[in-house]
Amino acid sequence: MTQGLNRQETVPAHIAVIMDGNRRWARRQGLPVLSGHRKVAAEVLEPLVEHAFRRGVKYLTFWAFSTENWNRDAAEVRGIMRLFRDMIGRFGTRMHRKGIRIRTIGDLSRLEPALGKSIRELVDLTSGNTNITVTFAVNYGGRDEIVRAVGRLAADPEFNSRNSGLTEDEFGKYMDTDGIPDPDLIIRTGGEQRLSGFLLWQCRYSELYFPSFTMPEFTPERLDEAIAEYASRQRRFGK
Ligand code: FPP
Repeated sequence: MTQGLNRQETVPAHIAVIMDGNRRWARRQGLPVLSGHRKVAAEVLEPLVEHAFRRGVKYLTFWAFSTENWNRDAAEVRGIMRLFRDMIGRFGTRMHRKGIRIRTIGDLSRLEPALGKSIRELVDLTSGNTNITVTFAVNYGGRDEIVRAVGRLAADPEFNSRNSGLTEDEFGKYMDTDGIPDPDLIIRTGGEQRLSGFLLWQCRYSELYFPSFTMPEFTPERLDEAIAEYASRQRRFGK
């Protein structure tokens, strides 16, 4: 993959997407709800990743499954897990060939062990890739991430043996997102205007964009519109 020439400072380094509206899209088409998720996995994600790379975005994050999504209908949860499984093989190999690094955030320990293992293998396989980092938030909740980070901190002998205080940067190293910059732009598709705990620690200065189109309708052109909207914002970081 060759990177486009139109990288500018106005392009967000990290875009994070709350993928919403899949079931509404499916119902509107008269299709079973899983078709919305399937369309996103099969047709929407890869063009967005490629386009983001061409535009010079370095980190792209997708919220694929929340800690609350386990409460959905069991058949839908099974279907989404099946999509993850199917996607890892083909999509993963293609991503690796394109120099894309795959990461995850969220608690993978609740996934079926074989699925967790193949996700970890894909993360390891692509760990040396540098074109763009694509992070999937799987069994992710913002509060859950913070609670797990505090658990890691409390169990860290290095932290326990020191007597100086903890800085924000140091705490960030215990988060799932260690090494990933805070998102510059968070997009939630589907028209709802809330973050639902997405990247709760990291969203402090993120610009927010709430388009009405649903995730299955998210095209590269619409990503350009989101980037243009971002470029029009004035970020002051509290100054
Ligand atoms: C939100 O739309 C979507 C989800 C909870 C699941 C997202 C999962 C995928 C797109 C599966 C494929 C992903 C990968 C990484 C393989 P919703 O179901 O809440 O839609 P609604 O707002 O219309 O109810």
